[in-house]
Amino acid sequence: MQLSREKAEVRALVEETRRRGASVGLVPTMGYLHEGHLSLVRRARQENDYVVLSIFVNPTQFGPGEDLERYPRDLERDLELAEQAGVDLVFAPAAEEMYAPDHRTWVEVEELTRGLCGRSRPGHFRGVTTVVTKLFGICRPDRAYFGQKDAQQALVIRRMTRDLDLGAEVVVAPIVREADGLALSSRNVYLSEEERRAAPMLQRALCEAEVAVRAGERDAEAVRDQVRRRIEGVPGARVDYVELVSTQTLQSVERITGEVLLAVAVFFGKTRLIDNVIIDLR
Ligand code: PAF
Repeated sequence: MQLSREKAEVRALVEETRRRGASVGLVPTMGYLHEGHLSLVRRARQENDYVVLSIFVNPTQFGPGEDLERYPRDLERDLELAEQAGVDLVFAPAAEEMYAPDHRTWVEVEELTRGLCGRSRPGHFRGVTTVVTKLFGICRPDRAYFGQKDAQQALVIRRMTRDLDLGAEVVVAPIVREADGLALSSRNVYLSEEERRAAPMLQRALCEAEVAVRAGERDAEAVRDQVRRRIEGVPGARVDYVELVSTQTLQSVERITGEVLLAVAVFFGKTRLIDNVIIDLR
């Protein structure tokens, strides 16, 4: 496994690999790898000849007062895990390598980024889509791998890739969970013991709502209410949003039909966790 911190070197290595006719899979991450990331790497390993893992805590997707400075980092451990999982090349640039001091170009996906995390984190998706476009430009992947936990991010990146003809296939892999149901996230390390014990409640609330919908509930507001009440009953939990939206438009729905995304963002102390379920009634 190789490690590079330079765009030009990564571009050259990938070019050489592509010239040999090899396919390239990219797994973009912000590091502090967990089983969710590693499941993406393993999938990329199965589906491509050459696997690139990027590790970059992208400053442009963090808003003022968010956790950019304290975001967990452990490159040494990440490199060990990446090697074990079969990564060929790790790209771990510094912020100065990714963004020139006079960087002035941004990629923005309209409408899909307006609600959900886009509402709570203004500018977040502009940072995500810009850095992912840059990573696609540097690594020129045939396929790029993202987790379903960031459901809105996955839909936004898929739309951007189509709209801008970026030429990569966007693969979205299922959420990986702890045994008690908590979705894996690098931010779970922020949770106190008590918060950690309470956090699996998110998945339980989503599952109960899915059961209600499958049993015939079609009123979206009733479902949102049920989830909100369930989460608000957990000591220390503060709801940021509970949304039920169409998976096509990410607009809120009134009646539940077709395929919908039920998504939540909840603060435990200062830690904001997200989780979701796609309910397909087709
Ligand atoms: O999901 C993440 O870890 C990040 O948003 C991504 C896609 C690596 C872009 O910085």
